[in-house]
Amino acid sequence: MDAFECIQTRRSIRKFLDVPVEWDKIGSLLEAARLAPNAGNLQNWQFMIVFDKEKRKKLAEACLQQYWMQTAPIHVIITATVERGKQFYSVRGERLYNVQNCAAAAENMLLAAHALGLGGCWVGAFDEDMVKRTCSIPDRARPQMILAIGYPDEQPPCPPKRTLENVTFMNNYGENSGRIRDIDQVMGYQTASAIRSGIEKGKKMLGKFTQKVKEPPKE
Ligand SMILES: Cc1cc2nc3c(=O)[nH]c(=O)nc-3n(C[C@H](O)[C@H](O)[C@H](O)COP(=O)(O)O)c2cc1C
Repeated sequence: MDAFECIQTRRSIRKFLDVPVEWDKIGSLLEAARLAPNAGNLQNWQFMIVFDKEKRKKLAEACLQQYWMQTAPIHVIITATVERGKQFYSVRGERLYNVQNCAAAAENMLLAAHALGLGGCWVGAFDEDMVKRTCSIPDRARPQMILAIGYPDEQPPCPPKRTLENVTFMNNYGENSGRIRDIDQVMGYQTASAIRSGIEKGKKMLGKFTQKVKEPPKE
């Protein structure tokens, strides 16, 4: 699966098979998170893997009783050491970059999970103190999100997504000046789906061509 297909087919999964996640896959998830873009390359994030059953139950409680989370064999708590962000980038570092860095890592992890045949869900609704108490997280580290990850036991349909016309502006923000009426008309062949199908056609043609080149000359 290529990157775009991975982005397109990822869904939030909230029901998991009772199957553990292999350690090499957990390693790949951590690697994906570690490589995410982050402000000033500070990397002031931490990734905590929670597989202890009792702790997962407590975390589900702490996440405002989202008990479905217990079916996920692992929870990943992503924390930020906020002081470091503040030290380097003041208020923006503390309030914005710390959160954004962890969000980039979280999305990388969810996409990697999907690419590996796993599923996951980003959980942002939780009582921070309860989460900290459950996993002995010190005050210097703030939990930003919890990812519930495992092998999916559901295939949810894509929820309604807003159209590009609804969320894209050109040059100016605003209903009138920058609004795009018809994205296909503006972009023509440049739309993501058109580019993708072009690439696929190109790959097929190239495949046929290289096959021909590789054929040994007939005697
Ligand atoms: C910041 C944030 C917080 C979220 N918090 C929760 C949550 O507490 N519980 C939950 O079930 N899903 C949560 N989600 C997942 C969203 O509900 C989900 O991404 C959205 O409905 C779109 O569905 P999709 O991920 O399948 O595209 C959260 C997602 C984000 C980005």
